[in-house]
Amino acid sequence: MIELKDVAYARLGTPDLEDAESFATSCLGLQVAKRSGKALHLRSDNRAHTLCYYNGDPSEQTLGFEIADKDKLSSAATTLESIGHPVHVGTDSDCAVRKVKAFIGFKDPSGNSIELVVRPERLGRRYFPTRDAGITGFSHVGLNSTNPRRDEAFWTKVCNARVSDRIGDIALMRVNAIHHTVALAPAAGPGIQHINHQVQSNDDVLRSYYHLSEQRVPIVFGPGRHPTSGARFLYFKGPDGMVFEYSVGVDEIEDEATHRPRQFGFEPSSLCMWGSKSQRMAR
Ligand SMILES: [Fe+2]
Repeated sequence: MIELKDVAYARLGTPDLEDAESFATSCLGLQVAKRSGKALHLRSDNRAHTLCYYNGDPSEQTLGFEIADKDKLSSAATTLESIGHPVHVGTDSDCAVRKVKAFIGFKDPSGNSIELVVRPERLGRRYFPTRDAGITGFSHVGLNSTNPRRDEAFWTKVCNARVSDRIGDIALMRVNAIHHTVALAPAAGPGIQHINHQVQSNDDVLRSYYHLSEQRVPIVFGPGRHPTSGARFLYFKGPDGMVFEYSVGVDEIEDEATHRPRQFGFEPSSLCMWGSKSQRMAR
């Protein structure tokens, strides 16, 4: 069993680093940790970085998950290879770029690029963005799935994800107490469907709704409230069509032993209990 502790970072290829920096700082509200000609590392909490844009094709999207130590990393590599997922080991320079001690990369059954990392760095300096969006941290992702049932089995049987709730056959899965860290999203191919940052309060969600609308950032869903996690949310589009989410008030699963996933119907009210309608969040 591969024990994921938390999501660590997202890495996105982009043809336009300047545009990505402008969006990340003046709209999304992240802090530039490091900028080079080829990459932009961004902070959202006390970690050294949680989002990286680099010169590349926007179809290159990678998700990093933290695992406990190097022993667990090598047994994860053995497990993945044994079930037909080839693994590559991160070089020292790739580890330095990611500010981790070690990592391996592989593709999940839908073809998503996943990295398992050991000891991602934290900083003594606190996260301090130029735009106060109220962000408290990078929290979860929507992950494309070409076959949600198959992928639920991968994340829950090969890895330690647990299903918190389902909407139709779509699993919202946790790897720690937070209601979900990975939400599968039916899609024709691999990719990150959305990137979530938690914010401090309902006020932050609504303040951002007005701020982003004024900046002509396309709002694609919300303001609304998920009946599954209880979170109040806002979804909007960033560079290269990537969808970002702010949310607040996500439930935690307090009783791991007795929690049973609830089944929600595949209908709009399962996504928003206030009546907001999701525009299709496809890129
Ligand atoms: Fe979300």
